[in-house]
Amino acid sequence: MRSRCAMPGLFITLEGADGAGKTTQGALLAQAFRKLGFSVVETREPGGTPVSEAARRVLLDPSLTGMAPMAEVFLYAAARAQLVTEVIQPALAAGAVVICDRFIDSTLAYQGFGRGLPMERLEAINRMATEGLTPDLTLLLDIDTEEGLQRARRRPEQAEWQGADRMEREAAAFHQRVRRGFLELAKKEPERVRRIPAGGAVAEVHCRLIDAARALAPSLPYCQEE
Ligand SMILES: Nc1ncnc2c1ncn2[C@@H]1O[C@H](COP(=O)(O)OP(=O)(O)O)[C@@H](O)[C@H]1O
Ligand SMILES: [Mg+2]
Repeated sequence: MRSRCAMPGLFITLEGADGAGKTTQGALLAQAFRKLGFSVVETREPGGTPVSEAARRVLLDPSLTGMAPMAEVFLYAAARAQLVTEVIQPALAAGAVVICDRFIDSTLAYQGFGRGLPMERLEAINRMATEGLTPDLTLLLDIDTEEGLQRARRRPEQAEWQGADRMEREAAAFHQRVRRGFLELAKKEPERVRRIPAGGAVAEVHCRLIDAARALAPSLPYCQEE
């Protein structure tokens, strides 16, 4: 866990499959923190800066078939390094709550568990990209793989690639390995990575996230009080 005195803000990441509800829930969580008077910065991976969004277009473009697994790793790492330097570190230093849609755990789940690349290498690359910055809390939205993909296919932003993006086009077995990988990561670091069941209504899932985030921010309201 990163040193609290060096960084006054709170760093929360959302992880989980496509369609799990990260974008939806990230916005609601940001709203809940803003209601309490926190300054909140919402961002996403890969993306969140012009350089990182350019990397995102390459990473998700389904016409770029045959990308070498390590090329994929370094493109994600490059996008991450830029985001940490340009957005996350300065926001945390200014005392903001940073809510980031995907971060280091996605690399371990997708490129490690999904593609089978060696974990130690991925962890080393993650450390280089982030300068060791670790989230205070990671909310893992866990959903049945098929249900997540179905949700993802329904969302409007899908129009970007006129259908599924490069990662979503992977086989069902790949997505199942990724899901199991995320669950392993939650088991390995239970203090930081909290599994949140992502099935059910948006409001119900939101309450689960708030309950988990209350460990960091005790002033977050109880859902039944809202
Ligand atoms: N709890 C939920 N129940 C039903 N649909 C949902 C729920 N949460 C999100 N959605 C919808 O599913 C789609 C994917 O959600 P999104 O937040 O974009 O997921 P992610 O960012 O994890 O890919 C969106 O169209 C969203 O409106
Ligand atoms: Mg999203």
